[in-house]
Amino acid sequence: MKLFSKETYIKRRARLKELVGSGIIFLPGNNEASLNYADNHYRFRQDSTFLYYFGLNEAGLNAAIDCDSREEILFGNEFTVEDIIWIGQQEGLKSKSEKVGISDLRPSNSVIDFIAAAKGRKVHYLPPYRADILNTLSDLLDQTREHISKGSSVELIDAVIQQRSYKSSEELEQMTEAVNISGLMHINAMRSAATGKFEYETVADIYQTAKAHNSYLAYPAIFSINGQILHNHYHGNQMTEGRMVLNDSGAENAMCYSGDITRTFPVNGKFSTKQKEIYDIVLDMETSSIESLKPRLLYKDVHLASNKLMISKLKDLGLLKGDVEEMVNLGVGGLFMPHGLGHMIGMDVHDMENLGENRVGYREGLERSTQLGLKSLRLGKELEKDFVITVEPGLYFIPDLIEKWKAEKKFEDFINYEKLKEYYNFGGVRIEDDVLITENGSEILGNPIPKTTKEVETTMAS
Ligand code: GLY
Ligand code: MN
Ligand code: MN
Repeated sequence: MKLFSKETYIKRRARLKELVGSGIIFLPGNNEASLNYADNHYRFRQDSTFLYYFGLNEAGLNAAIDCDSREEILFGNEFTVEDIIWIGQQEGLKSKSEKVGISDLRPSNSVIDFIAAAKGRKVHYLPPYRADILNTLSDLLDQTREHISKGSSVELIDAVIQQRSYKSSEELEQMTEAVNISGLMHINAMRSAATGKFEYETVADIYQTAKAHNSYLAYPAIFSINGQILHNHYHGNQMTEGRMVLNDSGAENAMCYSGDITRTFPVNGKFSTKQKEIYDIVLDMETSSIESLKPRLLYKDVHLASNKLMISKLKDLGLLKGDVEEMVNLGVGGLFMPHGLGHMIGMDVHDMENLGENRVGYREGLERSTQLGLKSLRLGKELEKDFVITVEPGLYFIPDLIEKWKAEKKFEDFINYEKLKEYYNFGGVRIEDDVLITENGSEILGNPIPKTTKEVETTMAS
């Protein structure tokens, strides 16, 4: 089990108490989740907020922090000999909890009396995203599940966001490691892919690289010759001549920090002129967005600037016509990039999304748009020093969407539907990096990962 220093966890909890002010903070850890029968589990993933404050990466724990009495309690059971028969000798929970600065360890079931004794006081909890945790909260607090779902603590949510949004140097070290492993996954995928192979053969090499570095994938690999399908987890296609592959995959390292990287490359190792034209638009969107990043900049404006660049380049190619500014305002770009430019990243790929996308990525006075594309922008608010975000422009040709708009005669003054037919088999391009906001600008995390068409071709040839 890898941990930060004891002081890190003590300081984080002290700050949390200050931010929340009063009442009891209840933080349930995750439990094992069954796959197809009780004892066959999905990979265990601890809750990220529990990890942030308590560090212990194992199932079946709960924690409470009393903001008034200052008590910090961990609820969990020591392994018995019965357990040890199956899992071997383990470091005791008492010893582990001391390593994260907790001296008050109580048996699991004493949480019931603890919460019962808090009757009349405010118990702060985060929005539950697993059914077992929802049920536990419902039982402990003696409230219906509906009530629990609506009753999470805004004070606690905002306090956690206030802390977890800013990455410390020790967290950045972990994130850099995750990005570097992700980079190797991408380089190995570029070298593995070849005309005639099946997608799953290269996906296997991606998983192998992660595992060879003591990591898992932070999310199921999005790897497909159908890059126009934004979150495509099907890997059964043969990689055929003339196609490109979109690979969106990232490692989750041993301390559960995530990388989220996308590269797109030609199956045969050489971009055609048509592929290079579209690829270079996306590359330009990505690099110019990253160059513009700095504190206080509204990320929504970065999204819109990259949208404008895309529209003007598509106009140069003859796929769009008319006034660029007008097309940006009307949302014409949503046809080609129906997702947002990026999101926060940390322990979660979409960091803290379980606390509410708008609470993390928006603020009072900054409403989320309902326009295709912008509505999927998870981070719209001003950037701040020590945020880590993704920058992931994309350009896709989605025949179903194009046909739908065409049938509706949508934006027909702007869109050259006839010429778009030449792109129905093109797929899509996305390029994604993870970027730290610094005092005066930004810094791409990790070692460079091949990105220009020349770099990608050279990597694939080697
Ligand atoms: N990997 C999912 C995303 O880029 O948001
Ligand atoms: Mn991604
Ligand atoms: Mn992403």
